Amino acid sequence: MNHDAKTDSELVDWARLQAHLAPIGQQHLLAFWDRLDDAEQKQLARQILAIDPEVYRKIQNQHAAAAGSGVSDKSHWAELAARAESPPAMRLDGSGVPFSREAARERGAELLQSGQVGMILVAGGLGTRLGLDQPKGMFSIGPLSGRSLFQVLFEQLLAVSRRYGKPIPLYIMTSPATDEVTRGYLAEHRYFGLPEQDVRIFCQSTMWAIDDRWERILLETPGSLFLGPDGHGGMLAALAKSGCLANARERGLTQFFYGQIDNPLTQVCDELLLGSHALAESEMTTQVVRKRDPLERVGNVVAVDGRVQVIEYSDLPEEAARLTSDDGSLKLWAGNLAIHVMGVDFLARCAAEPDALPFHTAHKKVPYIGPEGRPVQPEKPNAIRFERFIFDLLPLAERALVVEADAAEAFAPVKNSDAEKTDNPRTSRAALVALHTRWLTAAGASVAPGTPVEINPLFAGNVAELRRKIAPGTKIDQPTYFAPNGPRVV
Ligand code: UTP
Repeated sequence: MNHDAKTDSELVDWARLQAHLAPIGQQHLLAFWDRLDDAEQKQLARQILAIDPEVYRKIQNQHAAAAGSGVSDKSHWAELAARAESPPAMRLDGSGVPFSREAARERGAELLQSGQVGMILVAGGLGTRLGLDQPKGMFSIGPLSGRSLFQVLFEQLLAVSRRYGKPIPLYIMTSPATDEVTRGYLAEHRYFGLPEQDVRIFCQSTMWAIDDRWERILLETPGSLFLGPDGHGGMLAALAKSGCLANARERGLTQFFYGQIDNPLTQVCDELLLGSHALAESEMTTQVVRKRDPLERVGNVVAVDGRVQVIEYSDLPEEAARLTSDDGSLKLWAGNLAIHVMGVDFLARCAAEPDALPFHTAHKKVPYIGPEGRPVQPEKPNAIRFERFIFDLLPLAERALVVEADAAEAFAPVKNSDAEKTDNPRTSRAALVALHTRWLTAAGASVAPGTPVEINPLFAGNVAELRRKIAPGTKIDQPTYFAPNGPRVV
C-alpha cells in the first residue's frame, strides 16, 4: 500500500473514506470510526486511502474467473507441468552453454572490476517459521563466531569488493515490521565495515488480507487494517519507488546480484554466475541445485513455451515430478535457490509495468476484529493473504539462464526452528563448518574429525586465498575461528 502525503483534514474526512470504500463494498472498515481517537482515525484513514480499488477489483475478478472457469488451480498447474521442459542451463560440469566456466568466471571478474555490479538483499520477511521477535538478519548463525546473518553476508560482500578494488552498492529491502530495528542495528554495527554511502535501505509495501469467503478486508484492531509485507516480489516496486533503482543507474551499475537474508552460504556476487549471465546475454539468471529427490520441497525451475519459470513444489503433480529423461535423470531437475542476477535495464522495464508480478494467494490464520468489535483468534486458516514473488520475473525476461551450483557450497537456509528436521540453524551451521573444513583440507591443512572451524571471508573468501594464508601441513585439532586478523582457538 502506498502512503501518500495527505493533510490531516483530508484524511479524517469520513465521507471521503466512505466514498473510497463503497465502490468496492468495504464500508465495514469504518464500523468503529466513532470509537477511535484522533491518531487512530488518522492511521485508519491513511490505510484505507492506500487500498487501491483497481488492485482490489483485479484480485476479485481473477478469483471469480478462476472459480467460474471450472479449471481448478490443480489442473492449471498439471497442464503447465505437462508442457514443462528442462530450462536452458549451465550444468555443474560446464555443459549446456557455448562458453567455458573459466571464461564465465573471467567475465564475472571483469564486471566486478569495472564497478558495474550492485547487490539487492531482501530482508523484509517476518521469519514466522523460525519464530523470532526481531528481524531474521540479526539471528546469530556463525558456528564459532556467533556472527549474525547480516554480518556474514555483509562481510562476504566487503571481501568481494576489496578483491576487485571497487565498491559494490548494497540495497537492502526491509518491511514496516523490520525496518526500524534493522536500520538501528546496522547503523550501530557501522554496516559491518561497508562504507555507509554504499548501503541503502528501502522499505517494501504492505498488502491487506481478506476473509476466505473473499468478502471483507480484515481489521487487526478497530483502528487499523491487518497489513502484511507484500512478498519478496514487492522488491520490484519498492526499489523503483524508493529511488534505489535510479541511484543504481546513476552509479553506472548494469547488473544486480540478488540474495535473501536467510542463506549464509550465499556465494555473494559469484563470478561464475555474473559472468554466465553476461556471456549468455541473459536478462535474468538464476542459480539452482539439482534436486536430490523428485518431491523435494523446493521450487522447480522449468521452461514452458520457451520461457523460464518456477513451479512451486506444492503445485507440481507427483507424476510430473517423477518424470525422467532418457538417461534416467529427473526431467525437472532444477531446484530454485532464490539467488538471481538481474539486469538493471530489465528491472527498470519490469518496474514500469505496475502489474508485472501477479499476486499469489495463501490461506492463513489471521487474527481479526469481528463484526461486534471483538478480537477473534482463529483456530484454522480463515483468511487469504497476497504476496508477490520475485521469481515471477523470470518469464518476463527475453533471455533467461539457469546456472547449476553444488548445494553443499551454496545453500543452507535458515527457515525453521531446530525442532524441525531441515533448513534450521543447526543444519545451516553444520553446512558452514563442513564447507570450511573442505576449504582448509583443499588448501593443505588437516582438520581433526569433529573439530569445528569457521572462516571469515575477510580472512579468506575461497580456497586460493586460504592457500596464501596458511602453511601447508597446518594441523587443526581445536575449534578454530579464522577471524579477519587471523585464526584463534575458541
Ligand atoms: P520466506 O518466504 O522464507 O519468508 O522469505 P520469511 O519471512 O523469511 O519466513 P516465514 O515464511 O515467515 O517463516 C524468503 C526471503 O524473502 C524475504 C525474507 O526476508 C527472506 O530473505 N521476504 C519475504 C521479504 O523481504 N519480504 C516478504 O514480504 C517476504
